[in-house]
Amino acid sequence: MPYATTAEFSLQWPALGVCRVPYQVFTDSALYALEQERIFRGDAWHWLGLEVETPNPGDFKTQRIGDTPVIMVRDAQGAMKVFVNRCAHRGAMLCVERRGHANQFTCVYHNWTFDLEGRLRGVAFRHGIRNQGGLPPDFDFAAHGLHRLRVEVLHGLVFATFSEHVAPLADYLGDRMTAHIARIFNRPIRILGSYSQFMHNNWKLYMENVKDTYHASILHLFLTTFGLNRLSMEGGLEISPCGGHHLSWSKRSVEEMAGTEYAKGTLRSMQKDFRLADPRLLQTWPEFADGVTNTIQGIFPNLVVQQIQNSLALRLMVPQGVDACELHWLLFGYADDTPEQAEMRLMQSNLIGPAGLVSMEDGMIGSWVQRSIAQDPEQTAVLEMGGREVTSQGSRVSEASVRGFWQAYRAMMDL
Ligand code: FES
Ligand SMILES: [Fe+2]
Repeated sequence: MPYATTAEFSLQWPALGVCRVPYQVFTDSALYALEQERIFRGDAWHWLGLEVETPNPGDFKTQRIGDTPVIMVRDAQGAMKVFVNRCAHRGAMLCVERRGHANQFTCVYHNWTFDLEGRLRGVAFRHGIRNQGGLPPDFDFAAHGLHRLRVEVLHGLVFATFSEHVAPLADYLGDRMTAHIARIFNRPIRILGSYSQFMHNNWKLYMENVKDTYHASILHLFLTTFGLNRLSMEGGLEISPCGGHHLSWSKRSVEEMAGTEYAKGTLRSMQKDFRLADPRLLQTWPEFADGVTNTIQGIFPNLVVQQIQNSLALRLMVPQGVDACELHWLLFGYADDTPEQAEMRLMQSNLIGPAGLVSMEDGMIGSWVQRSIAQDPEQTAVLEMGGREVTSQGSRVSEASVRGFWQAYRAMMDL
């Protein structure tokens, strides 16, 4: 896609800091190019998939880190490897399937082959024909392998990075975020499905939305009306020291609604007369000993770990240019789920996902923002709910974790 050059980019961040966000960050194609360099190829870890998605040597999955296509593959020894999905000959995309199994990767353009370690193994007509043509005798196969990324696996989640400088993954995430990943991935899991959702907005508008605990029970009528998530429930927000990662949580069973906007009837999302034709949609069972029924974890820059009742999912936000993005969903349960539990997870996931109501509404609101800010890039969004700081807090009537995202973003982008 056509990039403006980063040299064309200039931005003066408002003096009020992370409680103001210039709309330009969602509309500027030169900034988008700079993000590819400083975030997606910079000092960040990027989640690509789960080990269980590629259980056997040769199993692979393709994905993107920002705009760069990559292959995640289990090598002959069973270790996870990640390569740029680009042939080392003349740059053709090497693997076009979303997932599959291969003993080696063969490029369709000139049939160069690479093993599961990314080493160049075969070159068609390497010796030419009848002593004419072919590669020079001193051509160095070892110097022409696939571009290999640094990889780390944490509780079955596979992350990769272009950076040689970023801290080890556990340090990048910090103890609190790592502990939550351990809580969700506490035993063998089973994949229940995957799909993706196209959105007509900049990728950061979605990451703001995920970190915006303020909106959930106001935009999402279903969550509020049927009591799945309200700000009046016991809950809180935890934010990593860098600001970029967050964890929001709530307990459905502990709620004090009296005196709030919910009870006053001033919210569109609180409909007292709505009933479900099929109440099975809300069937749930208590799953975690801590009594926490909802958790949303955002890992900088673009991963979401979801536990909404019994709907468990990982979501990866993949940019598609400055004003579009695609959200990749991976639904899962545990290997020891009963068939009834797996069914209930899928039922709840349908409600949360884009074919239900919740994520459809998040996709819609992102496109509304993108459309209405396009003409005024110098104007700013206001982020003052819950104060002006980036601090963990016991209330989710707050935009603190959205401010945290911008704190981490500004640091990594040097803005
Ligand atoms: S570009 Fe892949 S073999 Fe030539
Ligand atoms: Fe939402």
